[in-house]
Amino acid sequence: ARHYAIVPAAGSGSRFGSDTPKQYLPLAGQPLIHHTLAALCRHPAIDRVWVVLSPGDEWWREYDWSALGPKLETVFHGGATRAQSVASGLRAAQMAAAEDDWVLVHDAARPCLAAAMIDALVAELADDPVGGILAVPVADTLKRADVQQRAAATVPRDGLWQAQTPQMFRYGTLCRALAANPDVTDEAGAIEALGLKPRLVKGDASNLKVTYPADLSLAEAILRSRLG
Ligand code: CTP
Ligand code: MG
Repeated sequence: ARHYAIVPAAGSGSRFGSDTPKQYLPLAGQPLIHHTLAALCRHPAIDRVWVVLSPGDEWWREYDWSALGPKLETVFHGGATRAQSVASGLRAAQMAAAEDDWVLVHDAARPCLAAAMIDALVAELADDPVGGILAVPVADTLKRADVQQRAAATVPRDGLWQAQTPQMFRYGTLCRALAANPDVTDEAGAIEALGLKPRLVKGDASNLKVTYPADLSLAEAILRSRLG
């Protein structure tokens, strides 16, 4: 089976709060999304990469993406939700993908994806009947708030993991799962709704999602530290 990647990149970054969508902000000398796409395009296990952009995207054409090589395809058909953008990517991949091929869905906003993380996902799921996701065990103590924003309970963190991306499932299964459950916040949620249990492959906290401005400084430090 082949491995394809779909990168939803059609969000507006409302929580980040900058005029330029966060995926295009400068990070270690490149637009943020360049790092994300480079990690996928240069990985030998990944055959092709579809990046899903907003139909009104004014930023993509401002940059030169040729360094990413021939695996990259653009889809200017992002939707109103992340899941709709992923569904657009799946439709674009339809000509290339067989039912049993693997699809890795990865957030544009996670620029610190390392080759070793893709290696782990691909190796650990190679014979898996369902597929799975990168995730990390929850580290912080969790509080349940009441309506007055007071801690009403401490939630045991045993068995709780934070979902990351990539999320890797068979093309056919993922298409069926998202068609049946279009309102999920991640692909694994749609697979779970089918009654299947995605495997949790241990990732690393450095694979952070840039959501707020402080995350961008952290991502910069992580990428710079890898340059040695
Ligand atoms: N995404 C997308 N289409 C959408 C919404 C999100 O392709 N309609 C993408 C984002 O571009 C991002 C990934 O999904 O790469 C994860 O979403 P998130 O971090 O929530 O990004 P935004 O939705 O842009 O940010 P916010 O929720 O703060 O508005
Ligand atoms: Mg969002």
